[in-house]
Amino acid sequence: MTTAPIRLGGERIVQGCGSIEYLKQLHGKRAAVFSTNSIVKNGYYERIISLLDSAGIESEGYLKFRLNPSFEDVQDGADFLKELHADIVVAAGGGTVMDAAKVMWVLYENPQLKTFESVIENMDNLSLGGNAVFVCIPTTSGSGSEVSKSGVITDSRDHRKVPIRNLMMVPNIAILDPEITLSLPKVLTAETGIDALTHHLESLVSPKANMISDAIAYSGALEVVRWLPKAYDNGENLESRERMMLCSTMGGLAFSAASLGLSHGIAHAIGAKVNLPHGLINAILLPIVIRFNSSHKIAREKYSTVAKALGEDDLSAIVQRLGKMLSIPDTMQKAMNDDRLFEEKLEEMANDSLQDGLTILNCVRPDKDDMIRILHEAYYGTDKHAN
Ligand SMILES: [Fe+2]
Repeated sequence: MTTAPIRLGGERIVQGCGSIEYLKQLHGKRAAVFSTNSIVKNGYYERIISLLDSAGIESEGYLKFRLNPSFEDVQDGADFLKELHADIVVAAGGGTVMDAAKVMWVLYENPQLKTFESVIENMDNLSLGGNAVFVCIPTTSGSGSEVSKSGVITDSRDHRKVPIRNLMMVPNIAILDPEITLSLPKVLTAETGIDALTHHLESLVSPKANMISDAIAYSGALEVVRWLPKAYDNGENLESRERMMLCSTMGGLAFSAASLGLSHGIAHAIGAKVNLPHGLINAILLPIVIRFNSSHKIAREKYSTVAKALGEDDLSAIVQRLGKMLSIPDTMQKAMNDDRLFEEKLEEMANDSLQDGLTILNCVRPDKDDMIRILHEAYYGTDKHAN
């Protein structure tokens, strides 16, 4: 039996405190630095520019990122790369920045792709690396985008998040410097950290799981549960920041070697419609999805192994308690407080969630009734229809 090839990271993963200095070892003429105002504020944007400068590399910044970037947004970034004739692309930010910059890099390297449809149609035939080296510097610990083969963009016509995937899209270099995350606000630490946990637990029960992904996902999930509360309680604790950064990258490696599942299928389908952060939606969905997937024997056994390693029996309860510890709202109602919008969009969100490729790939395939029930529980905390 042949399976899809696995790629665990790009050419180099550089990690540890001060590893950002690795930028001085890059070779090139012009770098585009994709980042955000928060990285300007914490001083790291200037530091990146100055490290590139000391390597003799000119650089220009691009800071125009929005939540849920559209195809038009990534096209704008690709035009920026083209005008600059960049031979290095640096993405310094969270998942949104790295994912969007990855697709900008794709468009820059494949200028024949001028429409959203053409990117989707030609996803398997991309050429990358001819123009520029892609370097990721994660500034949150969650997405794992620095080692993943996918970038997510939002279809502005129906507000659906669409992943673009190709093994060639794994960033060439990932620089994991935990010091960058010291100033990360509590809410971002919590939401991105739960996203990393979701990556591990979804990889674990994926039908594509294998010994490589399992080894990463088991230890990654346990480490997140142990270290995330510490990083949340004391953001200045460098050890917990370092552990969480590695957990996040491990999550990216785990889902690259297996796949994500239902929680991400729903999160991609509804995120832009309800305008809630990706990590927050996953935090609310994860305990519900664990219970739903537990009808699957292998999934149930794997969840139980993780729970037992943490000294308990019920993984869903552990995740729920972790969310509470991190002050994450346990329902979408508490997070967005817009019952009308939710009810108006419910049908569309259920249909889009059912069609998402990750939902289709989930170990238990939900039907429409299941999906409505899951969305109800995510929004109200109970299945309102069942009451
Ligand atoms: Fe995620």
